[in-house]
Amino acid sequence: MNEKIEALKQKITEYQVNNQDELEQYRLRFISRKSVIGDLFGEMKNVAAEERKAMGVRLNDLKNTAQSKFKELIASLEEQKNGQPEDVPDLTLPPVPDTLGAIHPLTQIQNRVVEIFERMGFNVAEGPEIENDWHNFTALNFPPNHPAREMQDTFFIEKNSDQGGQDVVLRTHTSSVQVRLMESQKPPVRAIMPGRVYRNEAISARAHCVFHQVEGLYVDRNVSFADLKQTLLHFAKELFGPESNIRLRPSFFPFTEPSAELDVWWGTKTEADRRVTKGTGWLEIGGCGMVDPNVLESCGIDSEEFTGFAFGMGFERIAMIKYQIKDLRLFTENDVRFLKQFTAFN
Ligand code: PHE
Repeated sequence: MNEKIEALKQKITEYQVNNQDELEQYRLRFISRKSVIGDLFGEMKNVAAEERKAMGVRLNDLKNTAQSKFKELIASLEEQKNGQPEDVPDLTLPPVPDTLGAIHPLTQIQNRVVEIFERMGFNVAEGPEIENDWHNFTALNFPPNHPAREMQDTFFIEKNSDQGGQDVVLRTHTSSVQVRLMESQKPPVRAIMPGRVYRNEAISARAHCVFHQVEGLYVDRNVSFADLKQTLLHFAKELFGPESNIRLRPSFFPFTEPSAELDVWWGTKTEADRRVTKGTGWLEIGGCGMVDPNVLESCGIDSEEFTGFAFGMGFERIAMIKYQIKDLRLFTENDVRFLKQFTAFN
């Protein structure tokens, strides 16, 4: 029996477990009632009476050894688990593509427009959305009583003109940035001005009080109307495809002379094409013209030496054409069902 006890002690001291199952096997074998140690206690009755006491001490000692080893094993398993989490991801698996947030369609259009004009050598210029009367109107050759200055078109922040001061307005177009640019820079000036603009209009499917524009300006010696036309044609073909075309219709803006409306070719193939273009196949996206000499002079540029062209168009209008969006209000409502359609994948 002594030998058995010694052999078991040896086994217990060397015992190692790697998982919960092995720990349970240890428990059954050395700790539980039916364990080998339990059996040995059962054999005590066969031990000679004079040896029984000493044997009891040895057996109890073995029992204690088994129990403290059990605690040790539990602790060591715990340690293994911490050092090595069970849910290690399999790094060899192909990744699941992450759905990213959508880039707003207007931002997509803006990025594309900026890209096209940058390749033609235009810089991007920005200016404040709260403007004074000079930059939004006066320097752009708006006569003092021009209807666009009146309340129905313009959001006034401060009305100072009654006291001989300057009105402060939410800019109604990014032409104000053209003025700022020409005031601060000598020709050649070649830049586009994307940005948010405000007009006091009732909100409907076709009009909004907040919208986005890009304007362009090129001032240098010998800039001609032909340059304007070719620039816009190239732009339309880049944005809408090589089949695209443009048409310029005579128009009026205080700050350009001559002035034109800019139409792009949409087509008349389907019933829907004819409906959006009112049967003509053309869609208006903005205005353009040769910078009025008065504007150049207001900004300190010699109109005898320099000429320039300018154009402006609405991003909403372009996005509606490109993505066939029927209602302008969708751009500002943040309806995820709308925005999700512009989701990109990583
Ligand atoms: N500023 C004009 C608008 O907002 C657009 C335009 C810009 C027209 C430049 C001609 C030249 O409607």
